[in-house]
Order: sequence, then structure tokens, then C-alpha cells
Amino acid sequence: MSANLPKSVLVIGAGGREHAIVRALLTSPACPRVLCAPGNAGIAAEAPCYPIAADDVASLVALARREHVEFVVVGPEVPLSLGLSDQLIAAGIPVYGPKADGARLEASKVFTKQILLKHKIPTAPARIFTEVEPALVYVRLRGAPIVIKADGLAAGKGVVVAQSLVEAESAVCDMLAGNKFGAAGSQILIEDCLTGEETSLLVVVSGRDYVILPTSQDHKRVGDGDTGPNTGGMGAFSPAEVVTTELLRRIECEIVRPSVNAIADEGIAFCGTLFIGIMLTPVGPSVLEYNTRFGDPETQVVLPRLATDVLALLWAATCGELAKVTLDVHSEHALCVVIAAKGYPESYPKGDPIILPPGSRVPASVTIYHAGTANNSAGQLVTAGGRVLGVTSLAPTLREAAARAYATCDQIQCVSKYFRRDIGAKQLNRQ
Ligand code: AMP
Ligand code: GLY
Repeated sequence: MSANLPKSVLVIGAGGREHAIVRALLTSPACPRVLCAPGNAGIAAEAPCYPIAADDVASLVALARREHVEFVVVGPEVPLSLGLSDQLIAAGIPVYGPKADGARLEASKVFTKQILLKHKIPTAPARIFTEVEPALVYVRLRGAPIVIKADGLAAGKGVVVAQSLVEAESAVCDMLAGNKFGAAGSQILIEDCLTGEETSLLVVVSGRDYVILPTSQDHKRVGDGDTGPNTGGMGAFSPAEVVTTELLRRIECEIVRPSVNAIADEGIAFCGTLFIGIMLTPVGPSVLEYNTRFGDPETQVVLPRLATDVLALLWAATCGELAKVTLDVHSEHALCVVIAAKGYPESYPKGDPIILPPGSRVPASVTIYHAGTANNSAGQLVTAGGRVLGVTSLAPTLREAAARAYATCDQIQCVSKYFRRDIGAKQLNRQ
């Protein structure tokens, strides 16, 4: 197959997820030329980066043309929802990542909930509101805890799991009256609160064909013990042993296959990653959300575990040849600790110097993925975002993976460094 693989690939995005994608592509036996836009300081050390924002669709298409790129892999959701894939396809450039119609599965929670309910895929019962008063009446009727979701993209901040009526009412008012999320909050979902452990399932989809990637679990809350506000994700590990082989089979039958077919039945020709957020409730798995891209930081633990060539996998999905792919997975466990800037997900400083340990002090099984990093005018590595680095380790056991990742985290010097100390702890405590 490698003879037909693309010789140059452009990765769109600037996070830890994109660094992991770039790394995976660079290790392909096909040795493609890998480019990135806009990238970050870590990616720039490995691949040429172009300072074009991930939402500047026209400039990205022009870049792909100018550089004679043969394949584009899109990381984040915003360019997908702005139609980057549509435009690349129109320009004759193959792309991994859905067109805008597919990206709507992430960009509109109302759209997705309607599909889930119509196709009888397990999900929390929910109602849609555009006016404050009826929404408040419904909240008071259902009582707390209850979940309020802004319809549109809100960078992971548009969901409030309200523990009290007061909190629920203020979330409703913030979204519908206070314009807290702009147009993204002009419609809201109010849904029943589910309980259980969460798992992230990344599925490579091409029409009605799909390949389920290894299971993983994210840690969404900022603080140890799952406390504090939701974030983009503070750490992850793979495999998620709470998803036993039997449970995965059930998830595939009740959720994955019906979802892929529902999307196709709705007339969406989906090519890309369907990331299914699942709550493992006492009565069975239930869909929390779809994302239409790789997860961050899930990608940083899932891709390093693949023995299958990631370039061949994504290219097969794009060429409609996914059914021919069998997935080989390393048995090792992977664990990623996200190093954030203190204050994230609220306000945080930028421009703080970062000193990484010398390569000789980082074991070969540990990779430091960059996210919000940049080189300042003096050429020094500094923080440039809320999530700064992702330290991933592979090891025969999760405990060893955690020990190795944390040993490296402790050696990273940065005044505003903050990270959770309990990534993987739930699974470790069960063992
Ligand atoms: P979402 O963006 O829909 O995945 O929501 C973000 C987070 O909010 C999820 O990862 C869950 O932790 C939480 N959440 C979303 N929907 C529910 C629900 N119906 N019940 C309980 N927690 C939820
Ligand atoms: N880690 C969750 C996400 O990528 O949305």
C-alpha cells in the first residue's frame, strides 16, 4: 500500500493533538514530507510550520496548493465547521476530516441530539429552548442536578452540569439572555444528568466503514479528584480498562455502528474521526456528545499505541478503502499528563520561560508533546496557551507509565506550571 501513499502531508492545528499527529506521520514507513499550520514551538522543531491561523480557510487552501500538498489532516473543529474540507476537496486536495455538514455533529449539540433521538441511539433525554422563561419552567420541573448546554462551539466551556437549581437557572440566563456564548448560546439543550465513568471512543470513519481505535479516558476537570471547572482535558490514558472487551462489543452494537449508519442515512458522507463521548451509566453506555476530530489529549495516548501506520490508516479512510485495514495495537499502556499554565481554564499568564530537561534525562518511552508553546524573540521557549505541554509515557503497566510521565513533569521548569497529580488514579486504584 505504501507505494500509493501521499508524499507530502499538511497538518492543521497548533495543539498537543497536532504534535502527536505530526509525530505519527513522521514515523510512517512511507517517510512523507510533513508540514504544519500554524503549529507550535515543538512541532516547528520537527516539521516546517507556516504562520496561518487554523481558521483562515482561504490561506490554508492556498498554502496546500502552493506547497503541492498531497494530503491534509485537520486537527481542530473550527476549520472543519468553517468548511475547510469542502474547500480542499473543491481544489482537488484529499483531506482527512469531515466537510461542514459532518462537522455540524460537533458544532451543534441540538442537531446531534435530534439525530441521536431519531435513530434511537442511547443518550440522555433532553429538550431544546430558545427563550428564557420556558427554559426556567422546565429546569424547575426537572430539578437539579441537571445539565445545560449551549448549542454551538464554545471551546469546551458551553456545558454546565448544575448541581443546584440556582446554578441551573443562572446558566440558562447566561446563555439565553446574557449572551455569554454569543450565537453559540442562542439555542440551548437542557438534559438529564447522567452518572458514571466517562470514556472517549475515537472512531476512524469513512462512509459506512469504521475502525475503532484503542479506548481511552480523559480527565476533564481542572483539579485533582475531578474537582473545579471543566477544561479541554488535563490528562488521559489508554487502554481504559473500565471498557472491557464485552462492554466494547456492546458499545459497538448499540452506539458505534448505529451512529455511523445514522450519519450516512442523514446524507452525510463522513470521512474523519468520530469521537464519541460516552457515559458508562449503571443501565448502560450513553452518548454525551460527538466530536468530529481527534481528541486532545486522547490522541497523545491513542496514536503512540498504534502499530498500524497512521498515514496508511487515515489515507485509507480518505480513499474509501478503510474496510481493507486491520488495526494492530501495542499492548503497552500510555498515559499523558497535561501541563497547563496556572489559572487555566480561566485567565493565565503567557510568555513564561519553559526549561525542558535535557534529552538524556528523558527516557525513550517518554514524549513531551507541545501545545501552547512558542519561541520568543530571543529564541527562548515560552508558554503561549492554557494547555502548554503533554507528557506521554508508554510502559508495560499503567502504574509504570504514570511514574515515568510524572518523573518528567517534575523536571520541567516553568513558573506557571500546573498539572493534576492523579491522572490514571481511578484505574490504578481499581487494580
Ligand atoms: P460535552 O461537551 O457534551 O461532552 O460535555 C462536557 C462534559 O460535561 C462531559 O464530558 C461530561 O463530563 C459532562 N456532561 C455532559 N452531558 C452530561 C450529562 N447529560 N450528564 C452528566 N454529565 C454530562
Ligand atoms: N479531550 C476532549 C476533547 O478533545 O474534546
